[in-house]
Amino acid sequence: MCGIVGYVGRQDGVPVLLEGLARVEYRGYDSAGLAVAKGGALRVHKKEGRVGDLAASLPKRLSGTTGIAHTRWATHGPPSDVNAHPHVDTGCDVAVVHNGMLENAEELRAELQAAGVALASDTDTEVLAHLIAADDDVDDLEGAVARVLQRVTGSYGIAVLHAAQPDRIVIARNGSPVIIGIGERETMVSSDVAALVRHCRQVVHLDDGELATLTKDGFQASTLGRRPSPKQATELDRAPEEYEKGGFQHFLAKEIHEQPEAVERALSGRIEDRFATAHLGGIELTPRELRAVRRIKVLGCGSAYYSGLMGAGLIEALARVPADAEPAAEFRQRNPLIEPDTLYIAVSQSGETLDTLLAVEEVRRKGGRVLGMVNVVGSSIARAVEGGIHLRAGAEVSVASTKSFTNTVVAFALLALHLGRVRDLSPADGERLIAGLRALPGQIAEILEREDEIAAVAERLAPAHSAFFIGRVSGFPAALEGAQKLKEVSYIHAEAYPASELKHGPLALISPEMPSVCVVPDDHLVAKNRSAIEQIRARGGETIVVAQTSVGDLADAESLVPRCEPELAPLLLNIPLQVLAYHAAVELGRDVDQPRNLAKSVTVE
Ligand code: F6R
Repeated sequence: MCGIVGYVGRQDGVPVLLEGLARVEYRGYDSAGLAVAKGGALRVHKKEGRVGDLAASLPKRLSGTTGIAHTRWATHGPPSDVNAHPHVDTGCDVAVVHNGMLENAEELRAELQAAGVALASDTDTEVLAHLIAADDDVDDLEGAVARVLQRVTGSYGIAVLHAAQPDRIVIARNGSPVIIGIGERETMVSSDVAALVRHCRQVVHLDDGELATLTKDGFQASTLGRRPSPKQATELDRAPEEYEKGGFQHFLAKEIHEQPEAVERALSGRIEDRFATAHLGGIELTPRELRAVRRIKVLGCGSAYYSGLMGAGLIEALARVPADAEPAAEFRQRNPLIEPDTLYIAVSQSGETLDTLLAVEEVRRKGGRVLGMVNVVGSSIARAVEGGIHLRAGAEVSVASTKSFTNTVVAFALLALHLGRVRDLSPADGERLIAGLRALPGQIAEILEREDEIAAVAERLAPAHSAFFIGRVSGFPAALEGAQKLKEVSYIHAEAYPASELKHGPLALISPEMPSVCVVPDDHLVAKNRSAIEQIRARGGETIVVAQTSVGDLADAESLVPRCEPELAPLLLNIPLQVLAYHAAVELGRDVDQPRNLAKSVTVE
């Protein structure tokens, strides 16, 4: 969703801001803008549409060594040039960019209007610019920002620029990420490390209730009450190349192909062969505490939730602890019972999904214990949990999650192994699973070598208006995720059903126009899965089968994955489904990396 970029340094900030905006484009947005301070005035340019449109509309000679910029995802008021950020006060002395939502914006707008201020936009953000500019001591910009923020309720990450103080940017955070990037006599701010990778090697994450003043020589952070807040810089764990397509046509293709190495990273240093277990430094639970866990509940949204369903299956199979997954918002909004011997696990690639973050806070407020499986170090969820497993998938730019999904399942396999080995999983079974995990990168690479075959299957699928994805028990989460990938990137309606449920209603929809993608692991349910496929064919339905062993004539098209340890089969079966969705989307000419209406990181409820 929205993205903030700010620059104060020794070079012209305009190209740096535009490059930063381009790097946060993947998050989803509808308009973009920037403001630079120069010669005692602010120059502000905003445009509905893409960052490229903004760049093309800028005056050739626009420059300035201090500036702020933004990509907006409309919340208050439709996408338009006027509603785009930065927002300024009437005299254009103060410019503000803002992520998040102010809850008392209406009240503050009414107050400003009553005082004769003409508001230019429909946004909540604009009030901040007017209030800061009206502060009695705006020469102390940080103080003015702090005073205004004390009047505001809601969530924000903001960056503020003042025409008369062109050597600084003031930033603040409450519930929306703000990251300071430290470079060589240049300092940046962004809501996403992606915008910082080119210029900064160290980062500092602001905490809620903090603000900071940035100058080219560094930063000073304090609380809203103006008490100094010492902060520790950490090395940035992302490289600029991670945000480039590296020869692929789309990020989605690149990220699908990065999975073998991503899985290797997820396993690296986490296997303890001597005891046939996993070594998970981040979970900070003793064997005794792990043995006391009676239930595991996984929380996440969308694909993160589906990876949680796969993970719950792994935990039940290997550790024999009852486990299930639930969409994070459903969980939180039903006033859940928090049981003391349940271990909660929050899954999130971005670490910023608000529904998941609020669920974590709900569990913690009620005294429950939550671990995280998060891909972005320093993200809000990573900071809100009590330890966890870093996914190590690397930067995921395409909106549709692929490598982070796979690495989450690997993280669950490691957790299940660890949990199993403090309970009843035998060393022999531990060794078996470890061998299975180590084989995964090669097996995923093997599947991806057959991409052309899967692309040919995608050509058959692309003309369909609607498709079923069916799977049974461990295959069902793969069907759910396969349907999710297809619908989000190709816009083909896809619905996942447990194979056993078809006959209880959905069979009525089967026709030659409604293909079914059938997920068939080599497990004890193969015969039952074959019979579901037969029922589809008997009604004239086309079948696309993703299996470990060929189903022969039952498939109109088939994609096979290598045999593996049974617990890991759903992970492998999901890979051809990703490739299928990708090629169907390419075939249909979709905006593969930024599907319509979607954002990479969903920071609203
Ligand atoms: C689908 C997809 C989304 C996300 C969901 C949660 O491909 O990417 O369904 O999985 O929005 O996002 P994170 O994992 O960042 O919490």
